Amino acid sequence: MIETARLLLREWRSSDREPFARLNADPRVMEYFPARLSREQSDSLVDRVEAHFAKHGFGPFAAELRESGDFAGFVGLSIPPFEALFTPCVEIGWRLDAAYWGCGLATEGARAVMNYGFETLGLREIVSFTVPTNVRSRRVMEKLGMAHDAADDFDHPGIPDGHPLQRHVLYRKRA
Ligand SMILES: CC(C)(COP(=O)(O)OP(=O)(O)OC[C@H]1O[C@@H](n2cnc3c(N)ncnc32)[C@H](O)[C@@H]1OP(=O)(O)O)[C@@H](O)C(=O)NCCC(=O)NCCS
Repeated sequence: MIETARLLLREWRSSDREPFARLNADPRVMEYFPARLSREQSDSLVDRVEAHFAKHGFGPFAAELRESGDFAGFVGLSIPPFEALFTPCVEIGWRLDAAYWGCGLATEGARAVMNYGFETLGLREIVSFTVPTNVRSRRVMEKLGMAHDAADDFDHPGIPDGHPLQRHVLYRKRA
């Protein structure tokens, strides 16, 4: 569990599934993903997140607002399941309910997660990636001091050829 000024980053509870499904069905949140998720797909993502924690001891943490106890989304680390030039690697990622955007929460949580990755887990490098047009997410990466090299840009293996969201930018940060 990681605490920041406003967030509690913790393992998942069954009560997180309903608000997580709501944000995964929101077109604003899913603008840069191939599709919104049904309740079943959202639950299956939580199953994979829980399996990631069980296997690796870390994962995308559920992000809870300390003041209200509300579930706000996730911020955390994961090992991408696909092969690319930069894998194997550990990725930092975030997805928050749109109601909480624009207050610095993703950056606040991600800073703490990065420290945890480098200091507690002893990682040598953390990467992050998204589509070029996801300026909010790229801004978070930049605020974390991550660096983008156009030579690392790649086609996401999980997205079909020719799909407008196939091209991705990669950011890296070394310990
Ligand atoms: C990406 C996401 C987590 C950011 O959360 P957040 O808590 O709003 O992020 P922060 O407030 O820490 O930082 C957002 C930054 O983007 C900037 N920003 C927001 N909208 C912007 C826009 N349209 N153009 C340029 N910058 C923008 C903000 O101003 C802020 O930067 P600043 O602090 O320099 O002003 C949130 O938008 C989200 O959940 N998006 C949907 C899921 C997603 O795309 N996840 C990433 C997939 S790789």
